[in-house]
Amino acid sequence: MTKSANKLVIFSDIDVEKALKNAVKKPRPDIISELRESALKGRGGAGFPTSVKWNLAASAQGERKFVICNADEGEPGTFKDRVLLTDYAEQLIAGMILSGYVVGAKEGIIYLRAEYTYLKHDLEATIEKMRGKKLLGKNAAGKEGFEFDVHIHMGSGAYICGEETALIESLEGHRGEPRNRPPFPVTVGYLGCPTSVNNVETFITALHVVEKGAKWFKTFGTEKSTGTKLFSVSGDCEKPGVYELPMGITIQKLLETVDGTGAKAVQVGGASGICVPAKDFEKALAFEGVATGGSIIVFGQHRDMLEVAINFMEFFCEESCGQCTPCRLGTETLLEGLDLLSEGKCSLKYLRELTSLGETMQVSSKCGLGQSAPNAFLSIIENFKSEIFDTRCSCR
Ligand SMILES: Cc1cc2nc3c(=O)[nH]c(=O)nc-3n(C[C@H](O)[C@H](O)[C@H](O)COP(=O)(O)O)c2cc1C
Ligand code: SF4
Repeated sequence: MTKSANKLVIFSDIDVEKALKNAVKKPRPDIISELRESALKGRGGAGFPTSVKWNLAASAQGERKFVICNADEGEPGTFKDRVLLTDYAEQLIAGMILSGYVVGAKEGIIYLRAEYTYLKHDLEATIEKMRGKKLLGKNAAGKEGFEFDVHIHMGSGAYICGEETALIESLEGHRGEPRNRPPFPVTVGYLGCPTSVNNVETFITALHVVEKGAKWFKTFGTEKSTGTKLFSVSGDCEKPGVYELPMGITIQKLLETVDGTGAKAVQVGGASGICVPAKDFEKALAFEGVATGGSIIVFGQHRDMLEVAINFMEFFCEESCGQCTPCRLGTETLLEGLDLLSEGKCSLKYLRELTSLGETMQVSSKCGLGQSAPNAFLSIIENFKSEIFDTRCSCR
């Protein structure tokens, strides 16, 4: 697998021990200010500002607080966290220590995707090594009175457990089902305590920002989407792999980088993302453009877009936790509609009803899974209606 030759931010060199020791010498508000100035947004998909999250968790009342690393990485087509967990584990743990220092937590938990069990041993060895260097434990990173340690909790193999409140339920030993929000985890999280949850990439990026400065970070990316992003690129291209690229790069430029030009469409953001047709390849990969947690799946000209839509919808039918009706029944109904389309038995009127159902799911589902489950369906129908509907279904 290709790993980006670019060493911009995340893959750039850093002396982890020095960076961490420098960071904990700074007053907490200064670290939050630096992160605010950098405008770093969470890399797990939702793009919540990291400075705001850490500040809320720092201000929350609680004797016990937690920092959780969301390493559940279940979005189809995403594998960038696996690379970070494999090759940059020390930076990740340092980022968690930094977060623990800022929010006032003593305990850090890596919630590790069940499929990544093979990484557990090496991660534990890294944690042990960092304990040996006294970066973890009492007076962590040489900071008098600051105590922090990390342990690993294995995930349960469900996509929904990547949603932070379902993740916390799962950590507590319950079924992985999303909670009602508010209260948000920063005030009432794991075991009812203030809990700050971040993606693997966010922790590492934050460490670099605090060491090298917001100004430097902002030399990459756009005004609204600062810095760089890791993209997991798969599908019909010559050079699939993990790439670090500046935020705001166009889809076309990314395709040129991975030798995937001539593609018919690109699925940005995995199953929960949107399908972008070739005519829109000049769009930017950014929070203000096409937002993504990093999954890029390239579809060549030979791909049947109906098959693509069915594949994604089967995934959501399987992964819906079933707690709320719009998602539980909506995903099944959309899949049945796609089956009707493949049999050439869907009327235009029914297709419009399915589209309207998808839009209803986006606003009425309880969590991000159901809210985003129709995205692929809607964007594929919108952009490939002639291929999917006009050529198959004669019933108007
Ligand atoms: C169904 C679903 C799955 C998710 N899976 C992940 C995941 O695997 N990793 C992740 O970091 N965030 C995932 N998220 C987003 C988390 O709920 C949360 O926003 C994120 O961990 C916050 O970290 P960040 O602020 O660093 O982005 C998922 C959200 C949903 C709705
Ligand atoms: S939207 Fe889907 S996954 Fe989320 S709570 Fe409802 S049923 Fe569960």
